[in-house]
Amino acid sequence: MSRTRLRASTKASSFTESVIRDMTRLADRHGAINLGQGFPDFPAPSEVKDAAARAIAADHNQYPVTWGVPAFREAIAAAYARDYGLEIDPETEICVTCGSTEAMIASMLGVLDPGDHVVVFEPFYENYAPDSIIAGAVTRHISLSPPDWTFDEADLRAAFEPRTRAVVINTPNNPTGKVFSRAELTVIAALCIEHDAIAITDEIYEHITYDGARHVPIATLPGMSDRTITISALSKTYSVTGWRVGWAIASRRLMTGIRPVHDFLTVAAPAPFQVAGITAMQLPGTYYERMRADYAERRDVMLRVLADCGFEVGSAPEGAYYVMADCSHLGLGDDVATARHLVEHAGVATVPGSSFVSVAAEGAHLLRFAFCKRVETLVAAGERLRRLI
Ligand SMILES: Cc1ncc(COP(=O)(O)O)c(C=O)c1O
Repeated sequence: MSRTRLRASTKASSFTESVIRDMTRLADRHGAINLGQGFPDFPAPSEVKDAAARAIAADHNQYPVTWGVPAFREAIAAAYARDYGLEIDPETEICVTCGSTEAMIASMLGVLDPGDHVVVFEPFYENYAPDSIIAGAVTRHISLSPPDWTFDEADLRAAFEPRTRAVVINTPNNPTGKVFSRAELTVIAALCIEHDAIAITDEIYEHITYDGARHVPIATLPGMSDRTITISALSKTYSVTGWRVGWAIASRRLMTGIRPVHDFLTVAAPAPFQVAGITAMQLPGTYYERMRADYAERRDVMLRVLADCGFEVGSAPEGAYYVMADCSHLGLGDDVATARHLVEHAGVATVPGSSFVSVAAEGAHLLRFAFCKRVETLVAAGERLRRLI
């Protein structure tokens, strides 16, 4: 009998549903504390929420300019000039998207051709694998090795070859908490220049760093501004993951690929939330200082909870809001079995480590804990976890 045509495409069948989003559904079903998906359980800043309410009341409710509300693009360019000394033309070098998620897929579709090779560091944020498949790209993985998640320079050099079109960087990194150093980025930049490759850099956690670690955008390194696509969003910095507003910044040449893809994928990102984004981008330095201090407290509570429950953590995160922890001492099986057990029997959702690596066995002893939660939530999760030990 011939294969039915009422089926998913070959492309769609080649990747599985997001494990992270699946864990959230399981958490909801079991009334679990969700330390799986990276969204805050505390309120967004009131100035930013008020700005969104005002924008809706003022009827910013129709399709905005496809590439983004002009004043929002200007605010983004001003923020990059203020924070990193980058000169970005808001007219031609910014595309506002539906979150970083769309910025990444629109960038890959906009600049890669089927069969192009893309270097991706692993552990990776799980979207990059399906993004590459959708773009028809072939991924080459480079390991970030615990405890400090460094990469081997020779391995990276070997991964760059004639078909290499791009490298995907995520700093500060999800899931490891690594912040790529200027020296590491210099090595990556030199390879991009030598091989005429593009750096696609997901910097959504750019403002969440600890212990004085400094985020360095690779676009600021010599020779990189024209060959970098910098991706970020309102989602994490302003605790508005549901607003779906992000952006890609790239030279005019690369933008000629990204903007049309964005246009036909989504037309535009939500208009009133872009208008509120102007207020967000203009918050004073004290907002970021306070946010970092609050996250440092949450990180320390999370690390204490994990240590009390016997989870081994290689190194404290330097950035972002996740920590990978060894769960083998629980004796509950591999990462997937352990994560299921924890959500069903302890009422705590995590994400299995295998979701972040290309070879599942490499992550089979790890769980990822998201600590973008109120301190009370983290303490309550600790109490639940302790009952298991
Ligand atoms: C590294 C990374 N990139 C992108 C995203 C998604 O961002 P957005 O909500 O802006 O689409 C996440 C969310 O967890 C992330 O961790």
